[in-house]
Amino acid sequence: MSQEVTVVCHHEYGNPEEVVRVERWKLPSLKPNQVLVKMKASPINPADLNMLQGVYATLSPLPAVVGMEGVGVITQVGSAVTELQVGQLVIAPNRMGFWCDAYVSDADVLSPIPSEISIEQAGMLAINPPTAWWMLTDFVSLEPGDWIIQNAANSAVGRFVIQIARYRGLKTVNIVRREALIPELEAEGADIVVTDEFPLSKQIRDLIGNANAKLGLNAVGGDSAHEIAKSLGAHATLVTYGAMGLEPLRIANGLLIFKDLRFRGFMVSERCKRTSTEDVQEMFTQIFSLAKAGKLKASVEKTYPLTAARKAINHACQSQRKGKILFVMD
Ligand SMILES: NC(=O)c1ccc[n+]([C@@H]2O[C@H](COP(=O)([O-])OP(=O)(O)OC[C@H]3O[C@@H](n4cnc5c(N)ncnc54)[C@H](OP(=O)(O)O)[C@@H]3O)[C@@H](O)[C@H]2O)c1
Repeated sequence: MSQEVTVVCHHEYGNPEEVVRVERWKLPSLKPNQVLVKMKASPINPADLNMLQGVYATLSPLPAVVGMEGVGVITQVGSAVTELQVGQLVIAPNRMGFWCDAYVSDADVLSPIPSEISIEQAGMLAINPPTAWWMLTDFVSLEPGDWIIQNAANSAVGRFVIQIARYRGLKTVNIVRREALIPELEAEGADIVVTDEFPLSKQIRDLIGNANAKLGLNAVGGDSAHEIAKSLGAHATLVTYGAMGLEPLRIANGLLIFKDLRFRGFMVSERCKRTSTEDVQEMFTQIFSLAKAGKLKASVEKTYPLTAARKAINHACQSQRKGKILFVMD
């Protein structure tokens, strides 16, 4: 008999808090090459909210279970599965629909997670750390001592950028929206933290002088991105990966003419698609090793059960959070 599980899903697009529903869905029965994964933890990321709003780049057919990442434990394996065992913690980097009690998956798309990593941290490793990792490797060649400048530095991605930069000996200028974050981010390894008072570029230039920052990371847009661009050195690259401020990029012509700046975009799912399984695994090996050593971690503000999905989403939509909102399953 097929098993029923609790899922957080939506049948239409709109205000995330209004369209989200908690329902009981039937699980498909297990095929020989599949495993049953009992979910343990899954965060609410901005992209999940965009998915509920119907404004994300790729949308699942409706009705759909929400949740782009999360960690679970294998509770049953199909007769043809040899590589995975019951009790193993796993993530599934290219899957969607993690806000559920359990799911059935082909075994070959799952990545085992070292058991030394806590459940909460493991649930947040599939999207934001790879985003930070690849943005620091893909666009410019960075040597120890090189500077990068980023906004939304208090976001999970922003903090992973700080942590990976520290590990690689890179120096970071970090833009946040409130002064109270400065000591916290410095303790995580940020070299300079500034609040977003304009003109930001003057503040940054006064602090880093002629350091010629090679890379800017933008998750906000509008004036914030423009001020980062103005603070970068000649021939530097500004990578846009988010649009939290909902303002388009405005770039002065002179930045292209006189400084030859390059403007690029990044999307982790596209990066994964064009990367061999071996190279994705190699990136995860490094990320898991940093996470195991406690050098890579995201803060959690509060955890909720799936049944409190509306409350959890309302909380995730609030600014000035200290960390992620996470679903933790029994
Ligand atoms: N392209 C990709 O592949 C990719 C992958 C992962 C994430 N992302 C994007 O990266 C961004 C951060 O994601 P996350 O999961 O790290 O976020 P998060 O931990 O949930 O934090 C959200 C951050 O956005 C900031 N923020 C919200 N509204 C803002 C505004 N109007 N102006 C400036 N900052 C604002 C918040 O600042 P406060 O702390 O001041 O409230 C907070 O630091 C999102 O846009 C997400 O979609 C993109």
